[in-house]
Amino acid sequence: MTSAPLSSDEPVAFRGAFLDFVADPFHQPEDDCVRYLRDGLLVVVDGKIQAFGTYGSLQGAYGELPITDYRDRLIVPGFIDTHIHYPQTEMIAAYGEQLLTWLEQYTFPVESKFADKDYASKIAHIFLDELLRNGTTTALVLATVHPESVDAFLEASEQRGLRMIAGKVMMDRNAPESVRDTAESSYQQTKALIEKWHGRGRLSYAVTPRFAPTSTPQQLAYAGRLLQEFPGVYLHTHLSENENEVAWVQELFPDCAGYLDVYEQAGLVTNRSVFAHGVQLTEEEFNRLAEQGSTIAHCPTSNLFLGSGLFNLVKAKENNIPVGIATDVGGGTGFSLLQTLSEAYKVAQLRQNNLSSFQALFLATLGGAQALHLSDSLGNFGPGKDADFVVLNRQPTPLLKLRNSSDLPTNLQELADQTFALMMLGDDRAVAATYILGKLAHSTDSRL
Ligand code: GUN
Ligand code: ZN
Repeated sequence: MTSAPLSSDEPVAFRGAFLDFVADPFHQPEDDCVRYLRDGLLVVVDGKIQAFGTYGSLQGAYGELPITDYRDRLIVPGFIDTHIHYPQTEMIAAYGEQLLTWLEQYTFPVESKFADKDYASKIAHIFLDELLRNGTTTALVLATVHPESVDAFLEASEQRGLRMIAGKVMMDRNAPESVRDTAESSYQQTKALIEKWHGRGRLSYAVTPRFAPTSTPQQLAYAGRLLQEFPGVYLHTHLSENENEVAWVQELFPDCAGYLDVYEQAGLVTNRSVFAHGVQLTEEEFNRLAEQGSTIAHCPTSNLFLGSGLFNLVKAKENNIPVGIATDVGGGTGFSLLQTLSEAYKVAQLRQNNLSSFQALFLATLGGAQALHLSDSLGNFGPGKDADFVVLNRQPTPLLKLRNSSDLPTNLQELADQTFALMMLGDDRAVAATYILGKLAHSTDSRL
């Protein structure tokens, strides 16, 4: 008789310093929002957090479990990227254009390749490797107009057990034929994809009209109909990114009061809607988004790279609009949300505002989870949540060895200082390991 192999779902524990958030530091004093356990223990059973507390308090109950020792590391919840294009992975860093010509010259030709499912699968895996290398465990992702591109991406995500949201781009005008659908076909294909993927395992679907200029009013109306027919799905699109784009929308939709109104008239502005950018929003549009409870995905590296402008994060947060942080690869210049937060800080500075490291890390964790309605299962180390987390090395480079003490922070001020340096100077090199449902999905930690 052979004994049963040790199940990989045996309870496991992780010991280290932990940082997460229990409330929003844009709205409450940081001390009430930040949870920092200098010597903590996270207990995981069947991919979920069973217990979380100081090592001292949990040692008695869980001290016999196999413990992975990360005692000089800083463990944070998995990062959440609220807007990213997987098919644009290979055209990141395309030179010299602003939004509309960038789309024509670089984006549409690359996206046309995703009619080929094998090609789409290959890029999907490269993309997911890159997310995990950077500590991103969940993302809201655009595929292309081709349904195969969604299948390829969600199959790859499913194989890895990842919590992902994605959708087929709907685009029936102002684009080459190779990346165009029709209002009717986009409706039928999206419906079939929702039925296949929404709610399957850890996956969800987002109805994804690309942006107003590439959809006819009829296609936008179909998108609205899908939201009515499938109440749990998301709406994901771009909004008010670039000045020329906003002017074009006004020409294309002369009967609408503004860019957001185009989406409102189609029934697309809801509390499950995620709008990327919002750089050019008017006062009324900020108010309307707040009333509807829609989310803005803030994409600072993309807004700088494409010369789109400086998003007003303070105004969005003052209006109580849920905001997530996003790379917007390939308009954005990297997969690292640490680097993206660094650029968000600089965008805030150019608007004479600040962004503390705790506010920034909140956006990448609990804030992102709340903005995507995922905070029941993601965003912090609350018991019962999914054990997706990132192990950060505070000293991954010679410069960060100099800047950050090898001693773990002993108070919130030191923690704010070390995490700020990590955000300004760190990137994928700071990600020592990424865990999905308590299992190692990426590691550079030679000690393991
Ligand atoms: N607006 C419409 N499509 C896109 C895109 O692919 N990237 C960005 N940044 N903006 C868009
Ligand atoms: Zn985008």
